[in-house]
Amino acid sequence: MPQTWMITGANRGIGLALTMELVRRGDHVVAAARDPWGGALAELAAEHVAAVTPLELDVTSDDSVAAAKAALAGRPIDVLVNNAGLYGPRDRQGALDTDFDAWREVFEVNVYAPLRVAQAFLPNVEAGSGRKIATISSRMGSIGGNPSGSVVYRSSKAAVNMAMVVFGNAVREHNISVLLFHPGWVRTEMGGGGADIAPSESAGGLIATIDASGMAQTNSFRTWQGETIPW
Ligand SMILES: NC(=O)c1ccc[n+]([C@@H]2O[C@H](COP(=O)([O-])OP(=O)(O)OC[C@H]3O[C@@H](n4cnc5c(N)ncnc54)[C@H](OP(=O)(O)O)[C@@H]3O)[C@@H](O)[C@H]2O)c1
Repeated sequence: MPQTWMITGANRGIGLALTMELVRRGDHVVAAARDPWGGALAELAAEHVAAVTPLELDVTSDDSVAAAKAALAGRPIDVLVNNAGLYGPRDRQGALDTDFDAWREVFEVNVYAPLRVAQAFLPNVEAGSGRKIATISSRMGSIGGNPSGSVVYRSSKAAVNMAMVVFGNAVREHNISVLLFHPGWVRTEMGGGGADIAPSESAGGLIATIDASGMAQTNSFRTWQGETIPW
């Protein structure tokens, strides 16, 4: 029985790789992106009209989220993946010299948006049978890892971990599992060409780990391969 997944930031990087892998195995994907009508996502959607539903969505905008929700018209979603993310500037991320405007922008995308999207599409997830909400966080958000540098990005991922765990406790009685993942160091625009793994490898691991997850794993923070990461 094919499942329906909704992926944010589905037009490139890990989000596009997740979409491609899910379509390959016969699932349906609501592929949400700021511009879902161009590039590789548009090509994929044209090739797989029945499997891919492009959905315009800027995750930082209440109006855009409301319009996307209306467009879905209560369609059941089995698995919602908050994938859209922003690293922020490559300089001025240090604890001694921080770009505060960029910090606010990164929090909009990495922290507020996953909760906004989870709240908005909760009725769709409740109408589905998968009952999972996954957020692509990062190992860089781990405080236990004794972090240094990149305060903008690291703090956003630590904050989204907290936000989604509180959300997970709020929806626990609805039997919805809330999952947090580090996707690996992945060769995308954000990860760079020298990163460890291809987007397809990350996507395959994430999908297998999400498939194998249920209420026993709610509020876990794990790698794409399912290994627990210290908060
Ligand atoms: N790559 C890595 O090594 C790595 C490691 C750890 C965690 N992660 C996390 O994995 C996730 C995916 O990263 P990636 O490597 O695939 O990054 P990427 O290639 O830079 O892609 C980022 C995606 O987020 C979307 N996005 C940004 N702002 C948005 C907004 N306001 N509304 C909707 N979509 C928005 C982008 O859409 P546009 O094309 O419209 O900009 C794009 O689809 C992120 O949450 C990232 O923090 C990545």
